[in-house]
Amino acid sequence: MARILTGIQSTGTPHLGNLLGAIIPAIELSKDQKNESLFFIADLHSFTTIRDAKQLKENTYATSAAWIAFGFDTEKNLFYRQSDVAQVCELTWYLNCIAPYQRLQLAHSFKDKSDRLSEVNTGLFTYPVLMAADILLYDASHVPVGDDQKQHLELCRDIAQKFNNDFGASDFLKVPEPLIQKEFSRIMSLKDGVKKMSKSDPSDLSRINLTDNKEEIVNKIKKAKTDPLPMPNDTESLRERPEAENLLGIYSSLKNQNLEKSISEFEGKNFSEFKEKLSNILISKIEPISKEIKKLLSDESYLDQVLLKGSEKADKIASKKMREIKELISFY
Ligand code: ADP
Ligand code: TRP
Repeated sequence: MARILTGIQSTGTPHLGNLLGAIIPAIELSKDQKNESLFFIADLHSFTTIRDAKQLKENTYATSAAWIAFGFDTEKNLFYRQSDVAQVCELTWYLNCIAPYQRLQLAHSFKDKSDRLSEVNTGLFTYPVLMAADILLYDASHVPVGDDQKQHLELCRDIAQKFNNDFGASDFLKVPEPLIQKEFSRIMSLKDGVKKMSKSDPSDLSRINLTDNKEEIVNKIKKAKTDPLPMPNDTESLRERPEAENLLGIYSSLKNQNLEKSISEFEGKNFSEFKEKLSNILISKIEPISKEIKKLLSDESYLDQVLLKGSEKADKIASKKMREIKELISFY
């Protein structure tokens, strides 16, 4: 049996990038009877950038509602809040003492974030170590993530191997396999085709939120950046056209078809015709879910109850593993 684990930060309302890069692929895996899934709200990671507890809580609800609305079965699987399982912080400390400082200095996500900030907290720097603890504490075998998390997963694998070597216990910490989609694994901003679609982008027009209504979707797609050329006729001509490539990628992913097929559908046409079709498919996929998210958000006690139940189950797994870890490193 494979143990699938992934986390999503509670930094805001999930968007189309989260949906196509992480939520849909992870939920598909969770439907396989052979898999056991552990999905969690990474609120401790969000705390590196958001200090407002009320906002963190609202984001936790919005993120939870999105996973449930898209069909994640929280009865059959584990769905929990990272901060509810304190052992993850304890393991982070042990792993901090294993993780090479120089490797953390090379993390792209840290460099990107720290370049934008005047004051950089240490949590941002050790962020990948907490992420490694999230994964290793639960013996996860597979971790579905978007392309932007590839480097963090490599670091997690290296930390696990170094820990096992240092303590002479091969296979003690399970070295996880990243699961990154081959196609459409990085959805870009609607305003800039070379920038990742992200919750932290100050412009709301840069992303489709999973709570957007019909009018908002139509407006954002209408205003999405394109170029003056007509629609491309092959993948080669998309090379220098990141915005066209991104929009066609979104369309293909939602239609579950390859890029070539989408290109042939719109070859030589103008963007307005394509944008209308893209809006329609986005509305058909997102609007019903957006309504379901809003319904779930009106019942916070239900969401609390789901998270609490999941956290209790996660805590049992974490306590057992933490005990084994402490025995191995002779902290008992
Ligand atoms: P954000 O970067 O918007 O704050 P998160 O860090 O919470 O999003 O990411 C949660 C999951 O969604 C991760 O697996 C991440 O790789 C994936 N993801 C985030 N943004 C994108 C994107 N633009 N395209 C594809 N996947 C993404
Ligand atoms: N760092 C991930 C992101 O920003 C979220 C995350 C935290 C995660 N812990 C994890 C993803 C463990 C997978 C596994 O997207």
